[in-house]
Amino acid sequence: MTERIGVLTGGGDCPGLNAVLRAVVRKAIGVYNYQVLGLMKGWRGLLEMEYEVLTREKTRGILPRGGTIIGTSRTNPLKIENGVERIFENFEKLRLKALIAIGGEDTLGVADQLFRQGLKVVGVPKTIDNDLEGTDYTFGFDTAVNIAMEAIDRVHTTAESHDRVMVVEVMGRHAGWIAIEAGIAGGADVILIPEKPIELDAICDIIRRRHEKGRDFSIVVVAEGAVFKPGSGQETLITQDVQRDEFGHVRLGGIGSILAKEIEKRTSYESRVVILGHVQRGGSPTAFDRVLATRLGVGAIDLVHKEEFGKMVALRGNKITSIPISDAVHKLKTVSEDYYKVAEVFFG
Ligand code: F6P
Repeated sequence: MTERIGVLTGGGDCPGLNAVLRAVVRKAIGVYNYQVLGLMKGWRGLLEMEYEVLTREKTRGILPRGGTIIGTSRTNPLKIENGVERIFENFEKLRLKALIAIGGEDTLGVADQLFRQGLKVVGVPKTIDNDLEGTDYTFGFDTAVNIAMEAIDRVHTTAESHDRVMVVEVMGRHAGWIAIEAGIAGGADVILIPEKPIELDAICDIIRRRHEKGRDFSIVVVAEGAVFKPGSGQETLITQDVQRDEFGHVRLGGIGSILAKEIEKRTSYESRVVILGHVQRGGSPTAFDRVLATRLGVGAIDLVHKEEFGKMVALRGNKITSIPISDAVHKLKTVSEDYYKVAEVFFG
C-alpha cells in the first residue's frame, strides 16, 4: 500500500509556501512513491479531517504563486478541548506515515510539543519576519524586503519633492529584520526595530541635524513591533486590537502614524506615514525565495523518508541541513547590536 504523508501550512501566509508544497509533492511522488495529503488551513485540517490529495497536476504552475493553495490559520490544537487527542486519532485514521508542518514559531512550537508526545512530524521554517532560530533565512523574507525596499525608493522621490519626513511602517512583530534590511537597502535615515526601544528626542535630533545640513527630507523605517522607551509618554507597544489570537498575539500596527505625528509636532517638519501591512506578504516570491522554498521542501520529504522526526530543515550558509525543532522554537532570532551599528552609520 502507498504510504501517506500529510502536509500543512500554519500561521501568516508568505510567498514561497506553494513552492514548498510543489517540491514536497514532486519528490514524495516521483522518488519515494508516497501519496501526499494537504491538510486544509493549518492544524485545523488535521483536527477536522479536512484535506485534499495533492497530486503533480494539482501542484503544477504554483511555483510563482503567493499564498498557499491549502490555506492557513492560527488554530492552536493545544488550546482546544481534546485537541491533542483529535490530532493523534486523525493522524491514525488518515493512515499517515508522517506530517510535514510548515510554519513559524507558533506552528512549529505546536509541532515540537506534539513530537514530544509521539507525533511523527518534521518542520519547515516559514516566517516573513525571519525571526526563527537555527536557520539563516526563512523563505518569504527576501520577497518582503524587496517589496519594502521598492516602497522606500518610491517614497523617497515624493519625500524629496515635498520636503517631508516620510515614515514607512513595515512588518516585524518581535524582530526588526525586514525594517533593517529594507532600510539599509533603501537608504533610510532612521531605522527603528523592536530590539531597540524608540527614543523620540534622539530621533528628532537626527532628523533636525540632517535638515540643518540642507537635506530637506528624511525617511524613517519602523517595524510595527517597535516600542517606545518607557517614560516617553507613549504606550510602549502600539496595537490595532487588544484581542489575542490562539497563540496569545495581539494585532500590531499604527506605530508609524504616532511617530509621524510626534516628529511633526517636535520638529515642525511636515510628516506623512505609509503602512505597508499585508502588501509585504502578498504576491509572487523572488527567485531567492523560490529556490530556498524548493530546497527546504525537498529536504523535508528527505527527512520524512529517513524517519528523522522532530527535526526541522534549515539553511546554514548555503547548505540545507536539519536541527531539532525544539532548537528553533526555544528563542527568537533577533537583530544583533553589531548589525544595528552598521545601519546607524547611515542615519541622518
Ligand atoms: O508573524 C508574521 C506576521 O506577518 C507579523 O509580522 C505580523 O505582525 C502578523 O503576522 C500579522 O498577522 P495577521 O496576518 O494575522 O494580521
